[in-house]
Amino acid sequence: MRDAFGEVQSVLVLGGGSDIGRAVCVRLAASRCRTVVLAGRPGDDMEPVADAARAAGATTVEIVEWEATDVDSHRKVIDDVFDRFGDIDLAYVPAGILGSQDAFESDPAFAAKAVDINFGGLVSSCLLVAERMKAQGHGTIVVMSSVAGLRARKDNFVYGSTKAGLDAFGQGLGDALHGTGVRVVVVRPGFVRTKMTEGMDAAPFSTTPEEVAGYIVDGLATGREVVWAPPLLQYPFFVFRLLPRFLWRIVADRAAG
Ligand SMILES: NC(=O)c1ccc[n+]([C@@H]2O[C@H](COP(=O)([O-])OP(=O)(O)OC[C@H]3O[C@@H](n4cnc5c(N)ncnc54)[C@H](OP(=O)(O)O)[C@@H]3O)[C@@H](O)[C@H]2O)c1
Repeated sequence: MRDAFGEVQSVLVLGGGSDIGRAVCVRLAASRCRTVVLAGRPGDDMEPVADAARAAGATTVEIVEWEATDVDSHRKVIDDVFDRFGDIDLAYVPAGILGSQDAFESDPAFAAKAVDINFGGLVSSCLLVAERMKAQGHGTIVVMSSVAGLRARKDNFVYGSTKAGLDAFGQGLGDALHGTGVRVVVVRPGFVRTKMTEGMDAAPFSTTPEEVAGYIVDGLATGREVVWAPPLLQYPFFVFRLLPRFLWRIVADRAAG
């Protein structure tokens, strides 16, 4: 349960090795969050996040196995977490892959897998989390959309369409949960310098995981339902969404270089 100051005391991270997720955990643990549950695929990514959360002040830090595409296992994983930790204030959901448009077009099965990871697997898990949060009477789910989902670009429309789906899902789930004590926050970052974007040229208004974590935590404190990272990006994307297709193609071609 959030404390008397309304601050998050427990977080479940679906995609526990994420760079942005690490920054969110550190930020929350440095405040009043004491329980951090990192859910993800076995590997080397989650231990450093667990160490960082402990160093920032978390006292109960656990790693659990969760595979986004293994939807049949999701109910057990989510139920186990809620049963064991009693009360989860925040489910932060950064799992995802970027992939490249070329790789998706040359291997459509890989494109379908990206849809399963970035969208299908998160839909399954978020619905289960929502069910448990409704039962406990409170909680917040934070999903990671992207500006890439707001208007499809020919050079990343597979990734963009997974994010468009997740963005719509997050908004719809938030509306469905209105009045239950559970809310959903949709985060729309631009380019963030993480392992996901390693080696890529930074886009305008690029940010760091720490900056994005700051926008998210501020958004939680102020009750926002949509968080842009950075906030300035909402203005160009307001215009981009209104552009006629022929003009958007020119803008997108320029962005692709
Ligand atoms: N970085 C950006 O510029 C940017 C911009 C807009 C939106 N976003 C979104 O923000 C979120 C976090 O991004 P990030 O930069 O922090 O990425 P990141 O560091 O690459 O983290 C992504 C996480 O997703 C996990 N993951 C991938 N496939 C999975 C699967 N099948 N099952 C379970 N976990 C899986 C990865 O685990 P493994 O180590 O096991 O692969 C990794 O821990 C993503 O959803 C991303 O699309 C990022």
